[in-house]
Amino acid sequence: MIKADCIVAGCRELATCRGPIPKRRETLKDVGLVEKAWIAGFGGKVVFVGPEEEFLKTVKPVDDAVRLDAGGLVGFPGFVDSHTHLPFAGSRANEFSLRIQGWTYRELAAKGLGIRSTVRATRAASREDLRDLCLARLDEMLLHGTTTVEAKSGYGLNLADEIKQLEAVRDAGARHPIDLVPTFMGAHEIPDEFRDRKEDYLDLLIHTIIPAVRDQGLARFFDVFCEEGVFSLDETKRLAAEALSAGFGLKIHADEFVPLGGTELAAGLGAISAEHLIAITDSGVAALAGSPTAAILLPNVPFFLMQDKKAPARRLIEAGAAVALASDFNPGSSMTSNMQWIVQLGVFQMKMTIEEALNAATANGAYAVREHRDAGSLEPGKNLDLVLADMPTLSDLVYRLGQNPVKVVLKKGRVVVEDGRICRDVRPLSSP
Ligand code: NIG
Ligand code: FE
Repeated sequence: MIKADCIVAGCRELATCRGPIPKRRETLKDVGLVEKAWIAGFGGKVVFVGPEEEFLKTVKPVDDAVRLDAGGLVGFPGFVDSHTHLPFAGSRANEFSLRIQGWTYRELAAKGLGIRSTVRATRAASREDLRDLCLARLDEMLLHGTTTVEAKSGYGLNLADEIKQLEAVRDAGARHPIDLVPTFMGAHEIPDEFRDRKEDYLDLLIHTIIPAVRDQGLARFFDVFCEEGVFSLDETKRLAAEALSAGFGLKIHADEFVPLGGTELAAGLGAISAEHLIAITDSGVAALAGSPTAAILLPNVPFFLMQDKKAPARRLIEAGAAVALASDFNPGSSMTSNMQWIVQLGVFQMKMTIEEALNAATANGAYAVREHRDAGSLEPGKNLDLVLADMPTLSDLVYRLGQNPVKVVLKKGRVVVEDGRICRDVRPLSSP
């Protein structure tokens, strides 16, 4: 018999998102739906998913097992948000008003607003302030069903403040059930004090900040904004080479506005992911087809920037790219962390099916931060990261806009959201 310390009985429908990772083309359409599903966990891991009859024959709950009746609820794996700029301070609501009056994101950036205004606010915040901002944001994410989050620095843009952001992420991760995957993004913008001497900032990144972040073990990935007016393709190449030789996995903000060749570079270097891809060219699509480099699409960005052009999700899927969906949560181009909304935009704005969008926000999201061995799908051996939502069918996740149907969230087999509220006292895990 299989020993279980956590039992979820009778989900009306359960999308397991199980199967080969990453999901491409046809496999992206299959969410591994199980009706009237029972789920069992032990020590934070899934040990069983299947019908009641088989559960009764094969699973033996321990005496004090947690039992949840999921009758009437629909289940899916916790969302994996594979692209966020979580640790920032300040607000850009004023800049948003200017955008509504017709200023573009890039015009505002050129005037010293944009990323550089968040840099000023983030530098002024203490590490503890930033940690507490992260914690409050993580609560919001958890309440909407997200259980794993990638978090980029990139609003410090000097040694002390980049380290401070990454320490805030580390400290928040130690205090919150959501798993955080830290990314160092010192190459997010050129700081004001280096405006006329970009070469010196590249030197600072290469000779001081990259080695310090590596030595302190504060980030798994390195990301760079390859964009006109920010880092050119050649500069991106230099930074990428340094980051790879320092042992970071590589991520590139590529083809967001102007196609500079960042996507082709990412694929050519075996990067973990190329992200944004709104302005991707045919050669970029071809480079990602069948490539291990994930295509992280961020559909709230063109929506939030009120821009008609969207990343070509259908072309990327049909070409065989490993497509993931993420929030790009940040104060300038995507002030939302709600992955339900991201899935909805994947369907409404990019013509993905509901199943494709859900897989892209879970299993492929986990792949896009290389957490797929533990997260992103519900199958034996992986984390029991489960969302239970009060809705008639899985399709209602997209069909019913603007509501939050999440009632229960389990993170590594522990109930962390109950009745739509965060649980502060969670039971300790059994040892496997
Ligand atoms: O992913 N494109 C660059 N970075 C962010 C925006 C950051 C900001 O505006 O503060 C993005 O869209
Ligand atoms: Fe981003």
